[in-house]
Amino acid sequence: MAFPLHRYRRLRRSESLRRMVRETTVEPSDFIAPLFVVPGTGVRQPVPSMPGVDRFSPELAAAEAKELAARGVLSVILFGIPDAKDAVGTSSADPEGPVCRAVRLIKEKSPDTVVMTDVCLCEYTDHGHCGMLKGHEVDNDPTLPVLAAEALAHARAGADVVAPSDMMDGRVRAIRDALDANGFQDVALLSYAAKYSSGFYGPFRDAAESAPSFGDRRAYQMDPANVREAVKEVLSDVEEGADMVMVKPALSYLDVVRATKEATNVPVATYNVSGEYAMVKAAAERGWIDGPRVTLEILTSMKRAGADLILTYHAKEAAEWLGR
Ligand code: PBG
Repeated sequence: MAFPLHRYRRLRRSESLRRMVRETTVEPSDFIAPLFVVPGTGVRQPVPSMPGVDRFSPELAAAEAKELAARGVLSVILFGIPDAKDAVGTSSADPEGPVCRAVRLIKEKSPDTVVMTDVCLCEYTDHGHCGMLKGHEVDNDPTLPVLAAEALAHARAGADVVAPSDMMDGRVRAIRDALDANGFQDVALLSYAAKYSSGFYGPFRDAAESAPSFGDRRAYQMDPANVREAVKEVLSDVEEGADMVMVKPALSYLDVVRATKEATNVPVATYNVSGEYAMVKAAAERGWIDGPRVTLEILTSMKRAGADLILTYHAKEAAEWLGR
């Protein structure tokens, strides 16, 4: 037989051949677009550390959701920046807060958009931690009803999916119970099941004004060195009632995405976080990398690792590059 025996290049010769044997595809419908929502009307503020990302008042967030839908991006996840913060995050359950207002407006202006909301307290507490404080520690159990009340407010506004990102133990069950007890059996729950204590959240904390005023989040978010623990987190969240689970961040945690995929049957999301976005934008701006090419390669790697859904600030531009 002729040498070389295997000529893999035969199937790489043309774009049509490559397409036929491609194992992984990325579609706009794989994306969930994060939107930062601020109070007021007519407000659109660029986020300096995230070029191309703006903070929107609720009606402009609704217009953005509609544009995303026109490009095939079927879902958004909302993060609120409230007017008022206090020690217990009272404004997190305000039905007139920016998130609840945006949920109602998106449902009105872009009814097919799947509206998800981030459920956490760090944007709503004056100390910037994700729960109730006892001294300098975040107190797990008293935080659960506060998170449940926030999720319930989002459900009442019309959210399709609530997504707790606080990393308190037991919060999935607490939120599921509160939703069910109030007639929201059909609101789905996407759990940030394996959320790591990561340096990649820096730009987000500027955008959401949610940096902790003291200390860090290592006592509740996961240690970046662990993967077995992530599988435990994922399995117990599914047991507690999560319909979908998330691994966050994405790029440095693709092994965790793969492990999660293999351990569960529920849809797996991964969060292509603010620091991952900012690195690509900064290098592309300097001409050091080809931004669109690198972005699509990164998004493909997340799908290849096993993600069904990707939360990404690239959603709109990537949908365009994919030919929408
Ligand atoms: C917490 C939350 C954070 C992110 C999403 N939800 C920040 C944190 O845990 O400090 C980060 C997202 C990103 O970096 O893009 N509500």
